[in-house]
Amino acid sequence: TVDARVDALLGQMTPEEKAGQLSQYFYFTQSPRLATAIERQMAAGQVGAVLFTTDPRLVNRAQRIAIEQSRLKIPLLFGFDVVHGFRTIFPAPIGMAASWDPALVERSQAIAAREARAAGMHWAFGPMVDITLDPRWGRVFEGAGEDPFLGAAMAAAQVRGFQGPYIGAPGHIIAGPKHFAGYGAAMGGRDYDEAEISDSQLHNLYLPPFKAAVEAGAGNIMAAYMALNGVPAAANRWLLTDVLRKEWGFKGWVVSDSGAVASLVTHGVARDDADAALKAFRAGTNMEMIPPGQSATMPAVAAAVTAGTLPVAQLDAAVRPILAAKIRLGLFEQPYVDEARADAVMNDPAHRVAARIAAERSAVLLRNDGAVLPLDRTRLRSLAVIGPLADAARDIMGSWVFDLNHPQARSVLAGIRAKVGPGVRVDHVEGVRIPPRLHPSPMAALERNKPAPPPLDETAGIARAVELARQADAAVLVLGETQEMSGEMASRATFDLPGRQRELLDAVTATGKPVIVVLMTVRPLTIHDSKAPAILDVWYPGSEGAEAVANLLFGDATPGGKLPYTWVRSAAQLPMTYARLPSHDPAKADQRYQEASNAPAWPFGFGLSYTTFAYSRLTVLTPKVRPGEPVSVTVDLTNTGSRPGEEVAQLYLHQRLGEASRPVRQLKGFQRVALKPGETRTLRFTIAPADLRYWNAAQRDWVAEASPFDLWIGGSSAAELGGSFAVAP
Ligand code: IFM
Repeated sequence: TVDARVDALLGQMTPEEKAGQLSQYFYFTQSPRLATAIERQMAAGQVGAVLFTTDPRLVNRAQRIAIEQSRLKIPLLFGFDVVHGFRTIFPAPIGMAASWDPALVERSQAIAAREARAAGMHWAFGPMVDITLDPRWGRVFEGAGEDPFLGAAMAAAQVRGFQGPYIGAPGHIIAGPKHFAGYGAAMGGRDYDEAEISDSQLHNLYLPPFKAAVEAGAGNIMAAYMALNGVPAAANRWLLTDVLRKEWGFKGWVVSDSGAVASLVTHGVARDDADAALKAFRAGTNMEMIPPGQSATMPAVAAAVTAGTLPVAQLDAAVRPILAAKIRLGLFEQPYVDEARADAVMNDPAHRVAARIAAERSAVLLRNDGAVLPLDRTRLRSLAVIGPLADAARDIMGSWVFDLNHPQARSVLAGIRAKVGPGVRVDHVEGVRIPPRLHPSPMAALERNKPAPPPLDETAGIARAVELARQADAAVLVLGETQEMSGEMASRATFDLPGRQRELLDAVTATGKPVIVVLMTVRPLTIHDSKAPAILDVWYPGSEGAEAVANLLFGDATPGGKLPYTWVRSAAQLPMTYARLPSHDPAKADQRYQEASNAPAWPFGFGLSYTTFAYSRLTVLTPKVRPGEPVSVTVDLTNTGSRPGEEVAQLYLHQRLGEASRPVRQLKGFQRVALKPGETRTLRFTIAPADLRYWNAAQRDWVAEASPFDLWIGGSSAAELGGSFAVAP
């Protein structure tokens, strides 16, 4: 059995070799000095895992050292940030969440896993399942937005996609949900800053996606960087041991974020690196991710065992899940990756089709006045394609893509040209540029040798854009943020379109021509107050984004995505959620600010289609239930327009009475449904008893209370068609 094999290995290992298993190093050959130093450690059997080695040849080189030169021949584990694809790049995860399609998300991560495994990876640092109410935070890119129900569905789907039916399934990799827990509540949206989260919010909002990921069988968890209510996550025993292992029964291993163990010293909770290692270890961290050039701290744990201050059984318990993972993955039998096969798997045309479909399904149509979209190819003679992101093949990928010259990437402009063919005249002008970040992004190091583009006269650029728009039948403006403006260390203080993009947009819109804005961003940029008749948010659509966006613009695909967060009017409204608590003076709920509305620009769950939908005949089949019984509801959904389309029907609940105040609405069900014009379908929703519970902070427990409940079903969190039921005592 796996346990017996682990025991046999542990019986032969020195404390130093065990601590080696708890150490994960960056390994790449750009710095030969660092690579050589790590290879020496591998040969000494003191490396458990590596990261950022994505070339199969390098994977095998490292693995050969571990297998052929180390005493016990324990294979290495290779981890990587498989965030939204490996070679084939899927939309930004927040966009994948906007598809409200867990099956699609599962399939996408299964493809990412297949490619990653073909390159020699065993483990994804993902999914990222952090809820955030503050999209100033750059890592809003990677999560599923503001809602714990949607977040839990996306978390579980991604774990299933990465891991397949069991850990070690061929073509799959281990999932490592991150960042446990509360990273998305970083104060002010400033990456790494502390998270002060109430007991109620922690249990009801931030933890559910992690719990769902653990229940889906995730083999690994990454602890967060920041302090949760004062205690850094990597040293937070309550989180890593009491909640994760004791309460949820997690059996895998916990890795720190890169450098998060040593930074316990910076946090002021450890005297030195050795103290930090012991604190993290005792809290429940099994593995330290070590930044390039830094030394491992885990040897301090081995030293404590040798000195007799730490029982060896504790060290063994920490090493156990890591060895078990290597056994389950079959690495002792087949440690090497097939170098000859990797490219064929990664270039599988079926993967590209899947990525294109995912990009189409993630797009959210925010506005379409006068049915400007879809553009009619048969009537269109000329099109102006404008904006700094129109011809940006790099930015279309978004963050967490390290291949700067990605072989598959094409720009929206190229996608449009390919779609319309020679019969339609397509003119392009950049117009304005997106200014560089104040502080260079971590990616900037990779782009050191990139030549700077020639300077641009933006005033002339705007004038030229106006001229092109005037001459064309319609104008498509591709606006937003560059790929380096979200991701890690990429928070923003405002949601204004960066640089002079707004001026460009207003000038082009003033021509009176049909203007379509294609937004490339993961943030709720301030654009609701523009007069542009059509706004299509495509997030960062990935390596097949060019074709997907062209399909959407010309009606070969129909938008059906819905917002996974509240689209605020400006960053000054943050934090904001649709699931707020009822409060004093609800009649004037929209008068919280003196000089501005506190209503959002677009509500959570919102998104239009090229067709229209109507909801009717909401019927609560179980108007009275006892605690522990499910609630069933049906509703009719009709496609009332003239095109086929997909609608995400959403069910929201409000518990009217309880020991604690309950949110005005909470998502508790959704289904994405395809309907032909005129078609009606009766949808059935079943609310599980667990979804009627909440964590009561006064009782410090999950409670299910007798209460009347209101419910609504519709196409957004502003759904109007309602009903009610009661949970009787
Ligand atoms: O996996 C990431 C993590 O999300 C943030 N810090 C660096 C890690 C490795 O790239």
